[in-house]
Amino acid sequence: MNRPRRNRRTLAIRSMVRETLLTPADFILPMFVHEEAQDTPIVSMPGVTRWSLPGLLRDAGAAHALGIPAVVLFPKIEEPLKSPLAEECHNDAGLVPRTIRALKAAHPTLCVITDVALDPYNSDGHDGVVRRDEHGGLTILNDETVAILCQQALCHARAGADIVAPSDMMDGRVAAIRHALDGHGFQDVAIMSYTAKYASAFYGPFRGALESAPKEGDKQTYQMDPANAREALRETLLDEAEGADMLMVKPAGPYLDIIAKVRGTTTLPVAAYQVSGEYLMLKSAAAGGWLDERAIVMESLTAIKRAGADMILTYFAKQAASWLRM
Ligand code: PBG
Repeated sequence: MNRPRRNRRTLAIRSMVRETLLTPADFILPMFVHEEAQDTPIVSMPGVTRWSLPGLLRDAGAAHALGIPAVVLFPKIEEPLKSPLAEECHNDAGLVPRTIRALKAAHPTLCVITDVALDPYNSDGHDGVVRRDEHGGLTILNDETVAILCQQALCHARAGADIVAPSDMMDGRVAAIRHALDGHGFQDVAIMSYTAKYASAFYGPFRGALESAPKEGDKQTYQMDPANAREALRETLLDEAEGADMLMVKPAGPYLDIIAKVRGTTTLPVAAYQVSGEYLMLKSAAAGGWLDERAIVMESLTAIKRAGADMILTYFAKQAASWLRM
């Protein structure tokens, strides 16, 4: 008789045959920053904070000390600075470039990743430039947006970003950003492309955190249809051909099949983003006493890695890293 249970009999044996191991080096911590002097708890994401600059520097240092190699920055931009063409996104004196410079000065070995997309800066709340037709219909302009994304990526590179991460889902942006970076001497700045970013309801709490929800319409003409898997492979091949250094699937937990397919299609490193709605679901079930928080968080992260992710963007990064060290 075949007895697979022999390999599960003791803790020692189980630890020898374990196929997937998490380490703090797998994690990338998403961090929210605002212009204010105080640190503000984010109501829609219990346990997550929108930081002042000093608060962010402290928390990023704590994350790095736990073995987390990278953070990714998301700014909350003041309403008066938002505009239809999102000019603030490439202001060298803006919140993100200032934060990058301060982070690199305070923590030189920390990898700084930035989000490249217009939504926090755009008065329309879309990731791209909006055109309205005479019937009130909205079009998100692709090529006009890509030109601005290139300026945004250059602005982040000038401030010292290690990796830029375009999350906008415009066509052709990876090639355009690569070309712009190379043309300005930033050959060493990498691109982590949001390759398969779905038009997901799981982003709700994030948009609450930044007040960046679209004022009108939704993101379905640029983010992917949750019903589609082959299309993710089309995006994978394009991003690879356009020069991306790392690919990303987002959300993560409900899209494990996509992570596995992308992993099988590319030789590039694959990242997966456990997004705000995934965080909130686990966090609130644990807060209600219905799930064991540590067990559920580690299981969800292990599943994402097992599916094929090399890196995981997660709001649980610090917690998980400290559990792994205990
Ligand atoms: C915006 C962006 C979003 C997220 C990361 N970058 C929101 C969106 O596309 O509407 C979501 C992250 C999360 O939900 O945790 N470009």
